[in-house]
Amino acid sequence: IKRIGVLTSGGDAPGMNAAIRAVVRSCVYYGIEPFGIYRGYEGLIENDVEQMNAGSVKHIIHQGGTILKSARSPQFKTKEGMAQAWENIQEHELDALVVIGGDGTFKGAMEFGNKYDFPIVGIPGTIDNDIYGTDFAIGFDTALNTVVEAVDKIRDTATSHNRLFFIEVMGRDAGFIAMYSGIGGGAEEVLIPEKDRGIEQLFESLERTSKRNKSSRLVIVAEGDKNGSVYDLEEQVKEQFGDRYETKVTILGHVQRGGRPSCGDRVLASRLGVLSVEALRDGKRDIMVGIRNRKVEYTELDHATKRNPKMDKELVRVADIISI
Ligand code: F6P
Repeated sequence: IKRIGVLTSGGDAPGMNAAIRAVVRSCVYYGIEPFGIYRGYEGLIENDVEQMNAGSVKHIIHQGGTILKSARSPQFKTKEGMAQAWENIQEHELDALVVIGGDGTFKGAMEFGNKYDFPIVGIPGTIDNDIYGTDFAIGFDTALNTVVEAVDKIRDTATSHNRLFFIEVMGRDAGFIAMYSGIGGGAEEVLIPEKDRGIEQLFESLERTSKRNKSSRLVIVAEGDKNGSVYDLEEQVKEQFGDRYETKVTILGHVQRGGRPSCGDRVLASRLGVLSVEALRDGKRDIMVGIRNRKVEYTELDHATKRNPKMDKELVRVADIISI
């Protein structure tokens, strides 16, 4: 392998820069020429490709976002888009790709890799942490810290005013951000799609605390929760409890995607970046590099995209116990 292209695609995640840096530097270390592809698959189609060197990734390990920029590319799903991308890969004489992103990124990689018999290795980077084959994806830890910091602040005002807050967090269809930040932020309730207990359960719990005169409460709601939006929830609670609870809604939104990556994310990204280049040198392809139980793991891209990581029952149990 003489030339490797690297791109970030889908939702950006803090720590992606650290991963790009590690990929580029490992290439240089092993005498491979690294190429940065801008705006994910969009840039590959539009030939937005630039040769990189060890210096091009200096002073980025601590920066959020991605210096290569990111995009979700509908074009890459078309025959023509893929053909154009393949032409550009040949023009730059790339021998392999490292793609950093989530589910959608890996699906695209798999299809492209199979179609053109081209080696691709994936690095999991998404704040949602919804990727099978790794305990943690790059960005998850930082996003959690951002969420918990916000939750702590909301608690201050919630307590001062005896208010009930519904706080919506990201995660798409997964409840990992909600569950971890719920435990870490000491939320009274966590609503996640993986364990839908219905609105009745929330009513029961609010009934109990209302009797205890505990009217300030934080309910963390995963955006993929099955009981409707946070506003729907607020409405239903208002109908059920009237003025026994004063409710407020906060949607944390894209603030969760930004910020300086935590040390945990930087280290994870650096490890996975190096591993991805080494995997390609070893002739591996169509796989994702990950770390599970402190061990390096290679997961077929097919499995990484099709299997869903399970919500740890232990976490749900802990959340239940400590929120009584
Ligand atoms: O996948 C990361 C994520 O932030 C999800 O949590 C969220 O549902 C989605 O991306 C938002 O996407 P966009 O930034 O395109 O609005």
